[in-house]
Amino acid sequence: MKKIAVFISDKGTGSNLDAIIEAIHKKKIRNGKIVVVVSNKKDALGLNIAKKAGIQTIIRDLSEYKRKGKSRNEYDDDLGKFVKKKFQPDLIVLAGWMLILSGNFIKYFPNRIMNLHPGLLPDGDEDFVTLRDGKKIKAIRGLHTDAAVQYAIDHHFPVTGSTVHFITEKVDQGPVIIRSEVRIMADDTVGRLYERMKKEEHNILPKAINLFCEGKIGDKNGDDGKMKILIIGSGGREHALAWRFSQSKKVSKIFCAPGNPGTKKIAQNVEISSSDIDGLLRFAKKEKIDLTFVGPEAPLIAGIADLFQKNDLKIIGPRKNAAAIEGSKVFAKKLMLKYKIPTGEFAIFDDYKYAREFLKTQKYPLVIKAEGQCFGKGVAVCKNSLEAQSFLKDVMVRKIFGDEGKRVLVEEYLCGQEISFMVVTDGFNFVSLLPSQDHKKINDKDKGPNTGGMGAYAPVPFLHKKLLKRIEKDIVRPTIEALRKEGCLYEGILYPGLILTDEGPKVLEFNCRFGDPETQPLMMLLKNDLMEICQAILAKKVKNLKLAWQKGAAVCVVLSSKGYPGKYRKGDVVKGLDSADLDNHLSVFHSGTKEEKGKILTNSGRVLGVTGKGSNLAKAMKLTYGNIGKKVIHFSGMHYRKDIGLKGLEESLWE
Ligand code: GLY
Repeated sequence: MKKIAVFISDKGTGSNLDAIIEAIHKKKIRNGKIVVVVSNKKDALGLNIAKKAGIQTIIRDLSEYKRKGKSRNEYDDDLGKFVKKKFQPDLIVLAGWMLILSGNFIKYFPNRIMNLHPGLLPDGDEDFVTLRDGKKIKAIRGLHTDAAVQYAIDHHFPVTGSTVHFITEKVDQGPVIIRSEVRIMADDTVGRLYERMKKEEHNILPKAINLFCEGKIGDKNGDDGKMKILIIGSGGREHALAWRFSQSKKVSKIFCAPGNPGTKKIAQNVEISSSDIDGLLRFAKKEKIDLTFVGPEAPLIAGIADLFQKNDLKIIGPRKNAAAIEGSKVFAKKLMLKYKIPTGEFAIFDDYKYAREFLKTQKYPLVIKAEGQCFGKGVAVCKNSLEAQSFLKDVMVRKIFGDEGKRVLVEEYLCGQEISFMVVTDGFNFVSLLPSQDHKKINDKDKGPNTGGMGAYAPVPFLHKKLLKRIEKDIVRPTIEALRKEGCLYEGILYPGLILTDEGPKVLEFNCRFGDPETQPLMMLLKNDLMEICQAILAKKVKNLKLAWQKGAAVCVVLSSKGYPGKYRKGDVVKGLDSADLDNHLSVFHSGTKEEKGKILTNSGRVLGVTGKGSNLAKAMKLTYGNIGKKVIHFSGMHYRKDIGLKGLEESLWE
């Protein structure tokens, strides 16, 4: 049970103290109790509230000190020493305390003094604070209650609010715990606006105290300063992420929901589907998860980040309005059009008849895309009008994707190399990951039907520095800025799927998460602690994030089941997993396996991603392919492409 000392003053009504007492009573603060209420004057209204609740009170009047010829520094020192010795509080909460406490007091409770400030403060020492919608307003510092509220009105702020933060010796700075935003109305007076702010304060202050009492914030995370991670998803991408997190010194435990037999070796799998976002929330709360990392797009598009953040849980991945960049192809295309981000020509249709007529006048090939996700199957490259009309009918008349095909896009067919270009962003700044290349088609030389991805390699040798800078300048930065301007601040991994055309790089689509299978080679090459990347996103410090990569290249070759991507076989025993050269140059990431009686069986279309790294691409390919086959990793009916990485080798020759 954490011991809390609440500091109040004669300037307030004691309503924040009341809110804390009520939250403890209603178990909204679970692991804390108030051991003392400290006031600067004997007539502070909050003292009666404390007495009524049976809480001990003490009064330390500064004017009495001054009368005795003592200094302010002595007052702070005496107060700190006395409170620490007598009550040994774990946490000091300044709930209306009006004196600015100096280092003489702070030294007794480092990182344990929480303050409620009647203005919005930024995470760092910047002058501006970023609102939830991505807009920025000036931070209000150094002003007491009414003056701070008046300032926001006088300066025509659209929004103001309150901030709970840990104090430091710099006035109104220090790590922010929670902010509440309150919209300012045209006819607001200080009284009316402050009343609404107070309501929010009574909510965020107990929440912040509870976070401290549960060990989620403060000078420690958990007992040993390490964090509990929840990874959502069950594929090779998630296995690679779990593998990388398992090497972090900052991680104490990893859960995967639902995970797979591969993640089970390094994490605890929990049987919750990635689409059950309420179940995931319940689990994260129950297990006091410090950080959740979302692998697939579906939970993000459904709003898992919004839900977790509302419940004060840290999560990596964009909120619903920003994840729409993947969730709605129409939203993405309109954004690109408005902000002049290079992409193919397109037309949008809600009406089958208009679309049908339009298709009669077009040049072929062209691309038809159903608006929604459609399990990744809503895109068709049509070689001629016949194919186009047939797919259009399937989507809009036969409704094979249901409502996800209510709207379609008809797009220009673009030629060139496809590139997966992922960046880490906090909505303002970004850092690019190594470019990689996926292989969508089932067979060598990009023949046959589309799949979820048959292999990937990184880096892409022909994507030279000049081109990389052009992609960042013409595509990545404008996209992040456009989303921010539209009020959809994007935080997480942004993954534009690009095509390198004769006219330059263009966007084929956006994804709101890491790619699969591109993540597998990327995790093999990444030198940074993955937690460092997550913390940079959460603290909006991506500007200072430097990524480091191992020299050379990595290749992931996906082994698929017989019949995939059509109807495929399940239940074949995977052999040779133990004979593979598993060391830090080779990893086998599971995506569609299951474990039965100690054996690993195939359980989905894409089964495993054999991933190797080497000092160059050719060596990485040699190691990877050397571990696939009859004498090494194999299963009955196994299929894989033999040319993953070859484009990198061949195209580089033309550089
Ligand atoms: N590799 C393609 C994707 O993750 O969507």
